[in-house]
Amino acid sequence: MACLARRLAVCLSLAVLAVVCLPSRGEAMGRLPQPPPDLNFTISVEGVVWCKSCRYAGYVRAMDASLLPNAAALLRCRRDDGRALSVWNATDADGYFLIQADWESAPFKSKDCKVHVPRSPASGCAAAVRPAARKGAPLKFRRFVPLPDQLQARYSAGNFTFAPEEPAKC
Ligand SMILES: *[C@@H]1O[C@H](CO)[C@@H](O)[C@H](O)[C@H]1NC(C)=O
Ligand SMILES: *[C@@H]1O[C@H](CO)[C@@H](O)[C@H](O)[C@H]1NC(C)=O
Ligand SMILES: *[C@@H]1O[C@H](CO)[C@@H](O)[C@H](O)[C@H]1NC(C)=O
Repeated sequence: MACLARRLAVCLSLAVLAVVCLPSRGEAMGRLPQPPPDLNFTISVEGVVWCKSCRYAGYVRAMDASLLPNAAALLRCRRDDGRALSVWNATDADGYFLIQADWESAPFKSKDCKVHVPRSPASGCAAAVRPAARKGAPLKFRRFVPLPDQLQARYSAGNFTFAPEEPAKC
């Protein structure tokens, strides 16, 4: 029994090690994962926009939230030298957006960038919950997407959640 327990403990610690070691060194050190700096790639970022608690067409019971279509999302990058970039796109019927910035994004690092969903498309669900209003979300590296004409880094900006000002008036 004790032997089995010890073997389990070894397995568990190996599993934990594997999980800790797999992500890039940057993440293990508590920072956001970064792709290698010496590559020429473009930036793309995805995210999902929700309305907490209102029961619209895209209601997901497990989340008690509705997916919001037609929400405008903005990728905004700015460097110390003043160089800046803004690229917009909108969420689809599943509340999902993908912003694909072209070569103009190559000079920027992900830490130069934030994603904003400035306004909710639903007037009854307009209060920004997360990220807080005007805060924006940082980019988290997910994977590289090799396209015919470019190497694209795909980041996630996570979930953007709005809520009704008054729950009774969704
Ligand atoms: C990256 O590749 C693009 C397209 O080939 C090119 O226009 C750009 O100059 C390259 N940038 C760097 C820093 O190599
Ligand atoms: C906007 O989103 C659509 C659907 O995901 C995508 O095909 C298109 O490339 C995106 N445009 C930009 C500029 O990101
Ligand atoms: C966004 O919400 C979905 C659904 O609950 C969840 O699976 C996912 O982990 C969330 N993403 C982030 C980055 O928090």
